Amino acid sequence: MDKIVINGGHPLQGTIEISGAKNAVLPIMAATLLADGVFRITNVPDLRDVKSMAHLLRIIGAKVEFRDNTLEIDTSTCNFFEAPYEIVKTMRASIYVLGPLLAKFGQARVSLPGGCAIGTRPVDLHIKGLQQLGATIDLERGYVVATARHLSGSNLNLDVSSVGATGNLLMAAVLAQGKTTINNASWEPEIVALADFLVKMGARIDGVGTARLTIHGVTKLEPVQFEVIPDRIETGTFLIAAALAGGRVQLNRTNGALVNSLIAKLRHAGAQVEAGESTIVCEADGRLKPTSITTAAHPGFPTDLQAQWMALMCVAEGSSIVTDTVFFDRFMHVAELRRLGANIEMNGNVAVVTGVAHLVGAPVMSTDLRASASLILAGLGAEGQTDVLRVYHLDRGYERIENKLRSLGAQIRREEGSL
Ligand code: EPZ
Repeated sequence: MDKIVINGGHPLQGTIEISGAKNAVLPIMAATLLADGVFRITNVPDLRDVKSMAHLLRIIGAKVEFRDNTLEIDTSTCNFFEAPYEIVKTMRASIYVLGPLLAKFGQARVSLPGGCAIGTRPVDLHIKGLQQLGATIDLERGYVVATARHLSGSNLNLDVSSVGATGNLLMAAVLAQGKTTINNASWEPEIVALADFLVKMGARIDGVGTARLTIHGVTKLEPVQFEVIPDRIETGTFLIAAALAGGRVQLNRTNGALVNSLIAKLRHAGAQVEAGESTIVCEADGRLKPTSITTAAHPGFPTDLQAQWMALMCVAEGSSIVTDTVFFDRFMHVAELRRLGANIEMNGNVAVVTGVAHLVGAPVMSTDLRASASLILAGLGAEGQTDVLRVYHLDRGYERIENKLRSLGAQIRREEGSL
């Protein structure tokens, strides 16, 4: 397994390009199952999760070509309506094929994802909503087995504004007979992008960008071309990297509006941030002011930036509080940050972080995607060498992050095949 080696203490200077959004392209890839024909999707990030979803679509019978950040997907040969455990256990987002397979083919057999490092990750809201749309769903030996002669529109109320459940139910409802409303829907930018993709395919969706979606089912959808939105979590990760390491970083091919909540926090902490429609510049020098965050569904502070923000607060000039109200267990990075000398007290889903003058490099272990990013950021600011092990987690969601950081002046390299 690869590791990433960082020699900290070097400010970042320069410009990089942000890749397409992982959490937009995964449901969009699943949504191609709703129509027969050839799709062309551009600005696709070259990530392990994208390759996993491509593999899953091939298992279902689609032809998938992925090169130069462009996907060509031909769904006219889909004939196997199953997502096997071997794929689902490596990528929870496989559950996104459940709604489209049911809507298009009336049947689906999808492995339950199981838990992961950041929590139990249930899918009860996906299942309950699909049953309300008329699906018969049984759980058999770790699989969701679903059938539906046809789906009928319904009034759906999500107990939690789940991104995944909103996406799955939206994809099921666009081919259901009649009208569906989804109340308390997620309106994360990635769900807006999915809805935009479906509307371009011919779906009828009102309320896009709000917590109440109204869908009028249609009988047929068409394949389209589509460009994926920028990745706001990659954007936020690099903005926090600039604030932590110091220097001046410009991000191109992104959009300040995608990270408003983060930009407000960075400015409060003392970083200078200029945000435009396609570029963002972040400049910082020295220790920042302690600034507390509480994660929440959009437009709140994203839970996917919580670990990265905590790394920044580890070297702030005072104490701050980091609370995660989306995933109460998303704190696997705390033990690893402590190995670097961080002062963090945990109480349930609340962390009290007391900044230290500097962290000290050490070997640390990746446990999940965003925890890995947090450790990379901490290493950028730490004295000496930090080895981040098991970076296959990182490759799920960041396109060769070490190359982008090195182009900004970081002393960082990947060592293949380490323990
Ligand atoms: C998506 O996961 C993202 N993944 C996650 O990003 C992100 O952290 C999360 O949304 C929250 O923004 C993708 O888009 C592929 P949820 P998802 O359903 O859909 C509870 C990353 O790092 N819930 O919005 O699984 C759940 O337990 C990943 O890129 C139920 O109770 O998240 C959680 O507390 C990590 N029942 C809350 O809702 C359900 O049926 C939000 O989860 C579904 C969810």
